[in-house]
Amino acid sequence: MATTPIHPALARTGEGICASGTFHMPTRAEFGRGVAASVGDEGRGLGATRALLVTDPGIRAAGLADPVAASLAAAGIAVTVFDHVQPNPRDVHCIEGAELARAEEIDLLVGVGGGSPIDTAKCIALLVTNGGHPRDWEDFGALQHNPLPVIALPTTAGTGSEVSPSAIITDTVRRKKMNLFDPRICPRVALVDPDLTLAAPPALTAATGMDALSHAVDSLHCRLATPASDAMALEGARLVGGYLERAVADGSDLEARCGMAQASLVAGLAVGITDVSGCHCLAEAVGAVYDHPHGVCCAATMPVIMEYNLPAVAEKYARLAAAFGVGTHPEVAIAEVRRLNAALAIPPLAELIAADDLDLLAEKAAANTSAPSNPREAGAAEFREMFRSELGGAVAVA
Ligand SMILES: [Fe+2]
Repeated sequence: MATTPIHPALARTGEGICASGTFHMPTRAEFGRGVAASVGDEGRGLGATRALLVTDPGIRAAGLADPVAASLAAAGIAVTVFDHVQPNPRDVHCIEGAELARAEEIDLLVGVGGGSPIDTAKCIALLVTNGGHPRDWEDFGALQHNPLPVIALPTTAGTGSEVSPSAIITDTVRRKKMNLFDPRICPRVALVDPDLTLAAPPALTAATGMDALSHAVDSLHCRLATPASDAMALEGARLVGGYLERAVADGSDLEARCGMAQASLVAGLAVGITDVSGCHCLAEAVGAVYDHPHGVCCAATMPVIMEYNLPAVAEKYARLAAAFGVGTHPEVAIAEVRRLNAALAIPPLAELIAADDLDLLAEKAAANTSAPSNPREAGAAEFREMFRSELGGAVAVA
């Protein structure tokens, strides 16, 4: 096994506008109504002959997977469907999918769904060529072989997984969300077709849309932020501010669905340039312990990490407030996130966690791979206080 590379946030040199950084965007993203129908041609363009279509039972029942399989088959590509994916995707299903892929001599992964099927497709792609368990490839840049090519077709607007170098997979033994992060994990092609999101119900639209916003915010305040990532993060936030409530109120509002699909894409690119940071440390701890939907966890934890980070990144939050169109005071940006959560009926953090679990949650947040990317250093004590403060005055400080 190769030695563990140093975390990019710790290897960075220079300060402010002089800080070193990487901008690597290997995914070709095709955006537009109807682009999903080109998946067969795209697969053939990659030289594929046998595809594993990775999805979940809900997407399959909604009729979104069959046209993709038909397009691949029409292009002469044999298709095997793997639809065992669950929300907060599990390591066991990645291993099961990789075994199936090897048995079927698969040379292309096609992920159809929200972040869970796409992340699972990305993880299967790397397991087929690198072997082992997903936890073997948890560290930055640890892969030994290029993964199989992946085509991603998002059916929700928020994950950003279609263009990101991450796969977030739950380690079912450690009850930990792992972040497999490597530019080689990026899908080769993302087919971002807003029509695929039209059937998403309001609660799913709200949660996944707030996940997109959390990518914008986590990228904006990340220690690895650059002018390029800031531009994308702020535009992602502006689009969420402009379109998410509309998309939730009326799922057939095509302009709002396009706006949110673009928001997911651009915020996903932002966070792919940087890394996620404190919000996802908190959110993934909550998701790992209680199995709540990822977007709900991100939405509910966003205000408290922003309050913690405010002293370090006030100027960034002033620009975020401007992107939301609510003025230029940094605190107003945080208030706007709380307002959006309430307007979208996102449960508050106090309803998602139990006071008895504060130590466990804090420990998991502090152990998150992306903790070094938060702009203010935070360990278990700081994360515990963030969780505790959202529970109100009923819980004593440890
Ligand atoms: Fe996320």
